[in-house]
Amino acid sequence: MSNDPIRTRRLTINAAFLKDIKDDNRDLKKLLDKIFPLAAHPQTATNHWSELVELFGCLRDQLALHFALEEAYGYFDEAVDSAPELSAVAECLRGQHPDLFEKIRHLADKSSEIRIDSGEQVARFLAEFNAFRTEFEKHEEAELKLILDALDDDLGVGD
Ligand SMILES: [Fe+2]
Repeated sequence: MSNDPIRTRRLTINAAFLKDIKDDNRDLKKLLDKIFPLAAHPQTATNHWSELVELFGCLRDQLALHFALEEAYGYFDEAVDSAPELSAVAECLRGQHPDLFEKIRHLADKSSEIRIDSGEQVARFLAEFNAFRTEFEKHEEAELKLILDALDDDLGVGD
């Protein structure tokens, strides 16, 4: 395997990063806990559409902060010397942020244009939101795994 310097940037996780991420994750979870039950069924969504439009706007803003925090603290930027493959994973996950943000921005905008007397428009929008949800949750799981793998590496699990 070649020792490409681009792939060997260091990955570090510090206490400030973990604190801010924890606060942000708590706010994000609260928001998602409000949105998911309302978006689960077309009829429920239709009955609460104006609330949902507002919540999708909040979710867009929260995710802007969420992604910015992850990137600002540089946990993607510094390599784990002993585990360059983690840096490659980090690069890949970081690369997903612009696409995920563009999707939620689009959904937040589009939600205000949906005609709620059109069952088809509502259903199509909810399907699109659920696809976003699946993709975002997969991204989050992969990030959590990356953090745990990096900590394992730092702590030398097996002590
Ligand atoms: Fe992320």
